[in-house]
Order: sequence, then structure tokens, then C-alpha cells
Amino acid sequence: MIGMFLPEVYEERDGILYIDGASTVKLAEEFDTPLYVISENRIRENFRRLKEALTRNYGKVRIYYSAKANTNLSILSILRSEGAYIDAVSPGEVYIALKAGFPPGKILFTGTSVRDDELKFLVDSNVTVNVDSLSELRRLLRISKPKTISVRVNPEVGAGHHAHVITAGRNSKFGIYEDMVIEAYRTSKYSGVERFGIHMHIGSGILNIEPFIHASERLLDIAGRIHRELSIDFDFVDFGGGLGVPYKPEEEPLNIDLYAGKLTDLFKRKLEEHDLGEPALCIEPGRYIVCDACILLTRVNTVKVTPYRKFVGVDAGFNTLARPVMYGAYHHILVANRMNAEVEERYDVAGPICESGDLLAKDRPLPRICEGDLLAILNAGAYGYSMSSQYNSRPRCAEVLVKDGRYFPVRSRETFEDLLRGQNLPPWLK
Ligand code: LLP
Repeated sequence: MIGMFLPEVYEERDGILYIDGASTVKLAEEFDTPLYVISENRIRENFRRLKEALTRNYGKVRIYYSAKANTNLSILSILRSEGAYIDAVSPGEVYIALKAGFPPGKILFTGTSVRDDELKFLVDSNVTVNVDSLSELRRLLRISKPKTISVRVNPEVGAGHHAHVITAGRNSKFGIYEDMVIEAYRTSKYSGVERFGIHMHIGSGILNIEPFIHASERLLDIAGRIHRELSIDFDFVDFGGGLGVPYKPEEEPLNIDLYAGKLTDLFKRKLEEHDLGEPALCIEPGRYIVCDACILLTRVNTVKVTPYRKFVGVDAGFNTLARPVMYGAYHHILVANRMNAEVEERYDVAGPICESGDLLAKDRPLPRICEGDLLAILNAGAYGYSMSSQYNSRPRCAEVLVKDGRYFPVRSRETFEDLLRGQNLPPWLK
């Protein structure tokens, strides 16, 4: 019943969905809904699979977990214990990563439109900065003389599950084009920078290997040119994140061994061709590590039939999971308390937000739904909680971590007081 599509940490026992040994029905009763439930074992599996696939063929590999996917402190702690590095995009993410115990040397900051005071914070924190523009580089060099600098290249190849998440190529605001990249390294070198990295990130949610390899080849050729023209050696080459996961039952997972094999083969060939020595091979996955390790549990409040449509009203909307509304993203839905019920209806699954667009699924084949049913929205670990908001003045929901049947509430549900946190009335309104 549960289908091949689901990782092994998901099981059906007596008609109830279990995640990493814990009953979703019990978790929903104990912690209420909406509730993000995260499997520790699955995060570890995902990380190890990727690390093993890459290190099989090249010794110096670093996996930077892209914290924007999910900055929960427990997730960061799990990944720290696995030997991960961190890709951070904001001073806030650097702050959280440091709190989670990552040494600054294991954090790479890749921002865009970065302020001077943010650069100062990064320099003071001893975090390596991966610059996104010549302007950022000049301002960084004015603020300090960093030992290491990395440059984000636009390899002119982009890809992604939606136009909003393609982060390279002609229309992208990210990265620096080849000729200006040379300029960036020249400026850095003559300012006394001693160690270098090179970086790209072409987009997110990519399920085929071709664009990665194509862009990686461009990046390595650009690295070769920098080495030839400026005698620069690289400590690391970072190919970015973007590894997709299947969201629809019919989608094929990315063949990670094939990806790793092709990337490492290309890497070794190009290092030799351009005489680039032995830099660390880095990637920055976010989604791949956490996406299928987490579900969102939401309770059915209302079943409403109009002359035209059948709505299932649940307690999670786009305030809790923004992806369906923001990208038209598909998230598979299971009836967690009646896993064996047959599919017999088509529903729009709607949240509590006062906008007609607040649908988590449209025209979705599901069993006949009753009020009080518990729905599990799958693949909610990446860009789920991290993109949630208080829109409509709804406090953000809670997160629970589970491992082998043990569980712990790792983030409390917000309260009404949180809605007013930081607000102050001016004296003339008191
Ligand atoms: N590195 C950089 C510089 C990035 O900008 C990103 C994601 C990653 C790594 C990680 O990408 P991943 O491996 O997770 O695909 N909110 C969107 C995704 C936005 C991704 C932004 N950048 C979504 O829900 O699909």
C-alpha cells in the first residue's frame, strides 16, 4: 500500500503511517497539528549515501549542507556529527551554524546583495566569503584582507524545477561571468589574498544529470584559465547544490552513483588537463539531504462540497508550507490514520488562509476524507518550515524529531505572544 516511492523509514502498521518507528497518529495527538515530523535516520542515510558515492572515486570531498533548506538546530547537529560543512546565505544562518557547533572554517557564505555590515560580521566570524559580484569583492577587500576568497561563477548554464529557482544563465542575478571572474581573482591576488576557491550553483530541484555535468565542465575550464593566467591554485572547487528528489510517485530518483561517478571522472580529468593539483571537491545540497526525511501532519477540519468542487479544509496552509502556492509544487498526500483506504474521490486540499490560492493540492485523487482525518504531506523537509510565515496572524507550527521510535519536540509551536513580539505602540497611540 505504501508504495515503492517512500523511503524505508516510512511504514504502515495497522493502517497507520509510522515514520522512523513513531506513530503519526500519536505524534499528532501529543503535539497537535500542523506538525513537521523529521526522521533522524533518513537524514543520516541521505548524507552518507551522497558522501560515499563521491568519496568512492576522489578522496577530498566536502559536503556543505545548504542550511536554507531547513535550519533546525537538531538537523544541523545531526549533520555536524556526520562531518558536514555548511553553506550559509545570510548572517543569520552563519549565527545558527555557529550555535550548532560548526567551526567557522567549515562555513562558506554565499550571499547576494550583501551589505557592508554583513561583510564585517562574516569577517569577524572568520567565515569564508564566496563573492557574488565585483562590488561585493571590492567592499570586502576594503573591510579586511581575508586569507581566503571564493568567487561565484555564472557558468551560463542554469536548470531547476521552476523559473524562480534557476540560479545561473542569462536571466540570473547570481554569479559573475567569465571575463569578470578573471578580474575578480586578479584583484584578490594583488590585494594579498593567498587562498582561493571557485563556486557555482546553477539551480534547485534538478532531476537529470546533464546540466550539472555541462556546467561543471564550464566551471573547471574557467578554473583552468584562472590558473594559467594568474598562477592561482584552488583549495576547493564547489559545484553547488540542486540535486533533486522525486515528489510525484511516477518520478525517478536521481541516480546518485551515476552523478557522482560522472562528476568525479570529469573533475579528475580536468584537474589533470589544467594542472590544477588536488583541490577539495565540494557540493552544497540542501533538498537532497532533508526533503524526504520530513512530513507535515495536518488535520482535516472541514469537508465541503460545492456544486463544482470538493474541498478538504486542513489546518496547514501556505503559511505552513509555501511551495505548492509559490511554485505550483506537487507534494504527495497520504491519509495517515487510514492508510489502507482506497482512492475514490478527487479533492482540492485547502488551508485556512483567506486567499483562494491557498491550496496544498488541486484535484487530488484521495480516499473519501472525513473530518478529523490526519493527512501526511510528504517531502516537506526542504523549504517547508524555513519558508513558513505568520501570515493571517497564525503562529508558526512545531517540529518533532524522531529516531527509532523515540521522539522529541525540537521546536515549540509559536503562541499568540509571538505574534506581537517586537511590536511597540508609539506614545501618541497609548
Ligand atoms: N547553494 C546555493 C548557493 C543555493 O542558493 C542553494 C539553493 C543551494 C546551494 C541548495 O540547493 P538545493 O540542493 O536545496 O536544491 N525554495 C525553493 C528552492 C530554493 C533554492 C535556493 N537556493 C523550493 O522550495 O523549491
